[in-house]
Amino acid sequence: MERVLVVFGTRPEAIKMCPLVLELRRREGLETAVCVTAQHREMLDQALERFGVRPDFDLGIMQEGQSLHAVTAKVLCGMRDVLERYRPRLVFVHGDTTTAFAAALACYYQRIPVAHVEAGLRTHDIYAPFPEELDRQAVDLIARLHFAPTARARDDLLREGKDPGSVFVTGNTAIDALKTTVRPDYSSEITRWAEGGRLILVTAHRRESLGAPMERMFRALRRVAESFPDVRAVCPVHPNPAVRDAAEGILGGCERIWLTGPLDVFDFHNLMARAYFILTDSGGVQEEAPALGKPVLVMRDATERPEGLEAGTARLVGTGEDAIYQGCRRLLEDPALYESMSRAHCPYGNGTASRQIADIAQHWLLDGGAARRG
Ligand code: UD1
Ligand code: UDP
Repeated sequence: MERVLVVFGTRPEAIKMCPLVLELRRREGLETAVCVTAQHREMLDQALERFGVRPDFDLGIMQEGQSLHAVTAKVLCGMRDVLERYRPRLVFVHGDTTTAFAAALACYYQRIPVAHVEAGLRTHDIYAPFPEELDRQAVDLIARLHFAPTARARDDLLREGKDPGSVFVTGNTAIDALKTTVRPDYSSEITRWAEGGRLILVTAHRRESLGAPMERMFRALRRVAESFPDVRAVCPVHPNPAVRDAAEGILGGCERIWLTGPLDVFDFHNLMARAYFILTDSGGVQEEAPALGKPVLVMRDATERPEGLEAGTARLVGTGEDAIYQGCRRLLEDPALYESMSRAHCPYGNGTASRQIADIAQHWLLDGGAARRG
């Protein structure tokens, strides 16, 4: 039996790694353990429960208002002990969180090969998004297997000089997850509240958005809700106190805006599928929206996911209050623009990414890949 370890710590990593865990656990010849750092707690547990994945190791590190230094140090030291105990032949990490970065670093120190799921995304500016661009570049430097979601991500990795034999285009496991959640007959308290109106689904949480940019985002949303009587906005608020305070302070008390805690991924995906459009600074939401054919306005100045822009589903509106308001106004008032942004595209794959990743990793292990270096 070859031992593999899958490590993650935040909600989006859980949503994108659980399909891979389930796939790896079906493979004969592999023993798959899961280590959660719990960089997130409630949001992580919500996703784990939805996919029925029970972790074998839980570092339990989350603290309110945690600093990047604290998360990095706790993951690095916690992973040292887990790696010593479990001794995996290959460790999977995902994306660009501090969990992924520090877990990959721990593996490097212990010379354990790393497989990077969602490799090769780039803005080429290590401060945008912060600290994710540095995290993913560092993980890609360490990784022995790079699972790129798109050809563009592969090309970026090859331009950086990664071994072409280590890079595989598989699609994004986000789409695997999406295939399991969306139901035509879904209804909820929120869909009933929004019935007859146009539903805008809103999320904001990025570190570089905290403070003034996030206040501008929420002020713009409030203006939209007050200017268009048929609009109903649903905003599942990230539990970070800096986000919660801004959302409650600026959006609270507006009858056309529904503030709620983080939604279960099943509810969130189904609301995406029913939304008129989506307003977000999220990375994962930019991947899911094109597959559902939902226009998405991205409240950022740059994106590492240009495929959605090219597909015509996504537009960058920046973080200015008026720019965000005008972006929403145009989508609400211009049916031709709305139509052109509402076509479904699948730049992030067809929902078989986990299967492809498991096939490649299993073959690599059987072929003695882990023994060759490190
Ligand atoms: C993290 C990732 C970011 C990712 C995001 C997904 C880093 C540096 N950031 O950002 O890349 O896009 O997750 O959501 O890795 N909190 C809770 N309960 C939870 C989760 C968070 O209370 O379940 C609160 C805590 O006060 C915590 C704070 O949110 O200290 C911030 O969490 P943290 O993981 O540091 O940052 P995120 O903004 O969530
Ligand atoms: N999501 C969710 N509930 C919510 C908001 C988002 O399940 O209330 C899902 C969403 O569908 C996507 C992921 O969480 O799969 C995105 O997470 P987030 O925006 O926090 O992080 P990012 O993708 O920006 O790293």
